[in-house]
Formats: sequence, structure tokens, C-alpha cells
Amino acid sequence: MMTQKEKEKLFEETKILTGFCEEDKANLIALSPVMKKYADPLAEYFYDRLHRLDTTKAILEAKPGREAHLKITLIDWFNNLFAGNYDINYASDMMQIGQVHVAEKVDQRYLISMYGMVFQFIISALESEYEGKLAEIEPLQNSVAKILSIDMAMMMESYFLELLDSTGWSMTLLKKMATVSISKKLKK
Ligand code: HEM
Repeated sequence: MMTQKEKEKLFEETKILTGFCEEDKANLIALSPVMKKYADPLAEYFYDRLHRLDTTKAILEAKPGREAHLKITLIDWFNNLFAGNYDINYASDMMQIGQVHVAEKVDQRYLISMYGMVFQFIISALESEYEGKLAEIEPLQNSVAKILSIDMAMMMESYFLELLDSTGWSMTLLKKMATVSISKKLKK
């Protein structure tokens, strides 16, 4: 289990690397009312896409009422992207969402692909809202790209840590094993 301090460090690192700053926060807050009306269509589009693959479709259909419940949680998640509270609670929520997907056996590539889908969806929404005016769209699009990257980084980190935790190995042991194995492969 990660401590609050470790989560904070991780969150700060992702903000530094993506270049997330006050201007991004302001851009996202400004987008909040605009994006609210796209939340429902996004949820429809998102789960429609997951129905196209047998494996993701089977996960959605594994429990009665799951998809309807997931649409609600996705809408909350989407609205939260623009809510302006990019603090430790935000990071903790994202990390918890990562853990849930390990428990539900949702593979990482599906999560990453769907982040890409959400980004494309938001870009299309911005293009129709701002009628293709690139000078207005570009800074907003950059802020959206940053928050989605931060979000995905936190989710995937916790996903990996949760998997590692289930093996009983430590990160140090895993990295040592990986180093030995990779250097053997490279010598071949
Ligand atoms: C951008 C990618 C995704 C986001 C942001 C996302 C978001 C969420 C959120 C917010 C929850 C609720 C977490 C909680 O209860 O604490 C959740 C749960 C879940 N998600 Fe995702 N999700 C994503 C991708 C996927 C994909 C690709 C699948 C594959 C089918 C999936 C299947 C599930 C399942 C099965 C649950 C648990 C549902 C339950 O409680 O019955 N998610 N997701």
C-alpha cells in the first residue's frame, strides 16, 4: 500500500513532466460547463466501443446492470476532469480506479486505448464548440492532453503496483530480476 506522501510525490512528478500549471487548471475549469453536455454522449460512445470487442463486451455483461452503473461512474469521472480539484484526493481516486480494473481483470492495453478514444472525443467536441478556431482550441486541447496523461499515469501506476502486490514481490526485487534477465538477453 502506498502512503499519502508517496502518492503526493508521484502526482507531483507527473505534473512536472506533463508541464501542468495554473493556466491548465484555469482552462479546464473554463471548459467545465461546455463539457457537461458531452458527458452523456461520451458514455454512450465509450461503451458502444467496448461492445465491439468480445473480451471487453464479456466484462461489461458479466453482471446484470453493470453497464448502466458504469455509465454513471464514467460520467462522474469525466466531469471530474474539469472540476479543478487537482489535489491528493484526485490522485487517490485515480489510483483506486486503477486497482478496481486489476480486480476486474481489465487489461492495461484496453485502458490506454480508451484514454486515446476519450481524447479524440474531446478534440471533436472542442472543434464543434469553437467552430474550428485553432487559436482558441489549441491551448484547451493541450490542457486536456495534460490532465488525461496525468490521470492515465496515476491509474496505470496503481494498476501495476496492485499487480506487483499480488505476487508478494517488492519493486526492488522485481527490478533486480528484470535487470539480470534483460542483460542476459542482450548478451545473446
Ligand atoms: C479511460 C479508461 C477508463 C476509465 C476512465 C474508467 C473508469 C472507471 C471508473 C471511474 C470506475 C468505477 C471505479 C470504482 O468503483 O471505484 C470503473 C470501474 C470499472 N470499469 Fe472502467 N474505466 C476505463 C476503462 C475500462 C475498460 C476498457 C473496461 C473494460 C470492459 C472497464 C471496465 C470496468 C469494470 C468492469 C469496472 C467495475 C464495475 C463494477 O463495479 O461492477 N473500464 N471504471
